[in-house]
Amino acid sequence: MNRPERVRIVEVGPRDGLQNEAQFVPTATKLELIDRLGACGLRTIEATAFVSPKWVPQMADAAEVMHGLNRRAGVGYPVLVPNLKGFEAALVAGAQEVAVFGAASEAFSQKNINCSVAESLDRFRPVVAAAQAANVKVRGYVSCALGCPYQGAVQPTAVAEVAEAMHDMGCYEVSLGDTIGVGTPGATRDMIEAVARRVPLDALAGHYHDTYGMAIANISAALEMGIAVFDASVAGLGGCPYAAGASGNVATEDVVYLLNGLGIATGVDLAALAETGDWISRQLGRETGSKAARALLAKR
Ligand code: HMG
Ligand code: MG
Repeated sequence: MNRPERVRIVEVGPRDGLQNEAQFVPTATKLELIDRLGACGLRTIEATAFVSPKWVPQMADAAEVMHGLNRRAGVGYPVLVPNLKGFEAALVAGAQEVAVFGAASEAFSQKNINCSVAESLDRFRPVVAAAQAANVKVRGYVSCALGCPYQGAVQPTAVAEVAEAMHDMGCYEVSLGDTIGVGTPGATRDMIEAVARRVPLDALAGHYHDTYGMAIANISAALEMGIAVFDASVAGLGGCPYAAGASGNVATEDVVYLLNGLGIATGVDLAALAETGDWISRQLGRETGSKAARALLAKR
């Protein structure tokens, strides 16, 4: 068993969590969410995405979000960039870390970023090179790592190929995304095993949506294999605009509850995080999607 002693949580609520909200969330609310998350002890908070506002209107205020950040010492605020145009805008707005996002499925790549998997990799290479020249760290995402909303099954070797290409081009970490939350622990293990043959385990992260309620089980399986970085979204916010029916990411509160129980350090204050999840859920007019948070809040 290779279970890590410490896990780094990449909080993706402000980006993955909010990107699919139908009503525009005011920039001030996004900024307050990011600041509250920092106060909870999260050290990596994906702040926004420099993508086409025609494709994802909710992220149209990316530059305003970056300019309005109350930057806390020791906290990173990465942003998504699909191409050089996005990267250049992110750089001007002060981003110090960016993430490129591709997929292990051709069909999803076309729907999400309007190009083939090979074209996307060709598009990312100059972004990574420009980022390195500007001293900006780059993370990579591989979507549909456990299944695709359009083509169904995705082979672990397809995930491994894209992850390896991203790592080889200079992504310091590759996050393996179960975009539509269809994975189960056995499939998770098989996929990670295939990827780990080509990319070092300590350069891999797990990104699980909870559509079928399997995210915590999948994180458990990934932990046992030595994965020590997980993406999560406060209150379980989210979904992907190009993956119909995909529910939110696994709730950060549920992940912290799991890790606390295993004695794995995260540096996150669970009670404060549950309050933050409750606050943003109220802003969006709903109840928190985190079961752990609901239980904790009920005891108040
Ligand atoms: P395209 O239409 O093929 O791009 O879109 P284009 O280069 O032909 O440009 C078309 C228009 O978009 C032009 O404007 C460009 O200037 C503009 P126009 O002349 O028509 O006025 N444009 C941009 N504007 C702002 N920022 C940019 C940018 N690039 C071009 N960066 C493109 C291609 C990639 C831009 C588009 O498909 C896009 O923005 N896609 C983003 C989709 C997205 O954000 N999806 C959600 C995030 S991924 C996700 O959630 C999965 C993840 O969580 C992991 C997981 O769960 O698996 C990461
Ligand atoms: Mg996602």
